[in-house]
Amino acid sequence: MDQITHLADLGYLVAAALFILGIKGLGSPRTAVRGNQLGAAGMFLAVLITVVQMQAEAGEGGVQWGLVALGLAAGGAVGLLMAKRVEMTGMPELVALLNGFGGAASSLVGLAELVRLAPEMTAADGDPAAGYALWRAVFLIGVGASSLIGWTTLTGSVVAMLKLSGKWNDKLGLPGGNAAKAVLLAGAVVSAGMLFGDPASTTWLVALTVTSCLLGVAFVAPIGGADMPVVISFLNSLSGVAASATGFVVGNNALIISGSLVGAAGLILTGIMCKAMNRPFKDVMFKAYGAAAGSSGSGEKRSARGYEADEAAMTFDGARLVIVVPGYGMAVSQAQHVVREIADELEAKGTEVRYAIHPVAGRMPGHMNVLLAEANVPYDKLYELDDINSAFSECDVALVVGANDTVNPAAHTDPTGPLGGMPILDVEKARTTIIVKRSLSPGYAGVDNDLFYRSSTMMLFGDGKKKLTELLSSVKEL
Ligand code: TAP
Repeated sequence: MDQITHLADLGYLVAAALFILGIKGLGSPRTAVRGNQLGAAGMFLAVLITVVQMQAEAGEGGVQWGLVALGLAAGGAVGLLMAKRVEMTGMPELVALLNGFGGAASSLVGLAELVRLAPEMTAADGDPAAGYALWRAVFLIGVGASSLIGWTTLTGSVVAMLKLSGKWNDKLGLPGGNAAKAVLLAGAVVSAGMLFGDPASTTWLVALTVTSCLLGVAFVAPIGGADMPVVISFLNSLSGVAASATGFVVGNNALIISGSLVGAAGLILTGIMCKAMNRPFKDVMFKAYGAAAGSSGSGEKRSARGYEADEAAMTFDGARLVIVVPGYGMAVSQAQHVVREIADELEAKGTEVRYAIHPVAGRMPGHMNVLLAEANVPYDKLYELDDINSAFSECDVALVVGANDTVNPAAHTDPTGPLGGMPILDVEKARTTIIVKRSLSPGYAGVDNDLFYRSSTMMLFGDGKKKLTELLSSVKEL
């Protein structure tokens, strides 16, 4: 190994350390910004080392700096624009899309290397040099894996993004269920195997690409309702595995390490999500829970009574414990600041206020934590599901702000429904439950919520921020 390779490997090691410290930082809202910066610095270092090493090894005219600058400028501009434009509520769609881009980028790099080296490989087959067979095997397995996983990730992520934004027609999908998935997977693996034998074959290259793309659609299209968080986190993991496979193709250690980190982190998050939703992973992928996310209610017409803000405010009078339960509607109406103001007002009157955070509340992991942190709610007032559930029976008021599925008792009462078995926040045990939302419509999973019709429930119908602002004025007058 020459000196340049040694130096590059040392630099990659520093980049890998920055990635790991970055992921560690992301573990808490306090250190998340720093974690993000460390990860970005690691990636900048890895890209810099890669191009400098290429230049040093290839000599004059080795790196087309104009192209590198163009790529950096175009990618940077699109990233900056998306980050500035995207609303907090649109973040999960953006994450899904970025996973897809990651998968596509890995596949394209692998394919570009295959197209570049296939003629040489075919010529060299008759006269192998020492170590050539091993390099060839690693290279072609890497290309096959990055194509299969990368294209599957791209199309699966696009379907997930469309589903999240409500633009996917649930009638679309591939017929044949799990058998079709098995056939497509087998087709992709066979195509990759045929490419191993004949790297210059365009037919098998196209077959691998097409079957992998269809596989992504076949996997994600039938999955619906509440399971989308698990799918997105799994696709995130797959995009990492595809990048890692491409790292073997181009012989880049930084790509192998960063891809593995994303793959492992995504898989751990998938496990956490499955646990939070009480769904075995295989059931999420193969059972298509709640795919047709229509209302699973009884169909009978019931009416729930709506209250005014001043009536609801009376329940806070003399309350010892109030638990705020935020959900997706709080994000949509950007009500987090007024939620904190109500809490401040109640605390000034001697009431203890806690916040109950369901692991899949909102539309992305940590969604509620981010919003409440933005409103300067102290972290020690945020309680996870297992730590707060027993407190509902002692609480005077549960204030539910735009949460629905995460408090829906159907999770207990209808075990085979879309929410069946998902742990929920037991707000029904509170003395009074105030629910702020615009209508009686169901949440993300499309399941009617019996809580709206209970005698201990007060419905405050309207936009979250508007209704809570009215509630705040009434609480001030208590
Ligand atoms: P949801 O069950 O989605 O319910 C949100 C409620 O907010 C809706 O019923 C809606 O009712 C209300 N709402 C919407 N806009 C509002 C506004 N401007 N003001 C007041 N209320 C408003 O929310 P959740 O309890 O947070 O549950 C999250 C769901 O999303 C789960 O099913 C979860 O599996 C799924 N999901 C989660 C993630 C992650 S990782 N967190 C990702 C994807 C999907 P109205 O229309 O009547 O106002």
